Amino acid sequence: MTITTCIFDAYGTLFDVAAAARIAAGEPGRERLAEVWPKLAQDWRLKQLQYTWLRAITGDHISFWQVTQDGLDWAMEASGLEDPELREVLLALYWELPAYGEVPEMLHVLKSKGYQTGILSNGAPDMLEGAVNFAQLGDVLDAVLSVEDVGIFKPARAVYDMVGNRFGCAPGEVLFVSSNGWDAAGAAAYGFRTAWVNRAGEPLDRLPGTPAHILSDLTSIPHLAETL
Ligand code: LAC
Repeated sequence: MTITTCIFDAYGTLFDVAAAARIAAGEPGRERLAEVWPKLAQDWRLKQLQYTWLRAITGDHISFWQVTQDGLDWAMEASGLEDPELREVLLALYWELPAYGEVPEMLHVLKSKGYQTGILSNGAPDMLEGAVNFAQLGDVLDAVLSVEDVGIFKPARAVYDMVGNRFGCAPGEVLFVSSNGWDAAGAAAYGFRTAWVNRAGEPLDRLPGTPAHILSDLTSIPHLAETL
């Protein structure tokens, strides 16, 4: 089935989530953060995601913005960085995460070839709006879909259903792209054609659903969409 619609995960896929800690660590007077920022960024991301999965299981849904703050609080304590001013700086940076370098051109090419494009993310609508505006991607995205509309986080099937509901397409017409192995697995099990962007060279997740395509960045997405 021909691909009509290309859907992207947001955090870690289009937007560099490690950038908040990395940028803050480069500011004057942040010597302590400069020593530990890679661990802080990793712990922050892992706790943020764990909290989404646990809340999806228990039914205690809350906004991704709250989960992001809760993950950061755990990570800062784990690194001995309990500093309210730094906390505010890191959270503010999360609203202005840079897009990976190849993202604008890749999305422009998809639109010029006539594909429908969108984001499907755990992110809250206002967070996603902030990131899309900061990266100036609004003109090359037809929809920014947030799990807040269904009240449960990925990889619940209700989230993946949002794509067909919005675009009126069958799962087999969708190329779904995520850097999160578990999200790519969930999307593949759902029935999307799936590409996992494995920038860090991680092992494949042992989960139901296997992404058919594994890429090192997003550059080849337009070509991949045309070949499917
Ligand atoms: C998202 C997270 C999973 O954007 O990265 O949905």
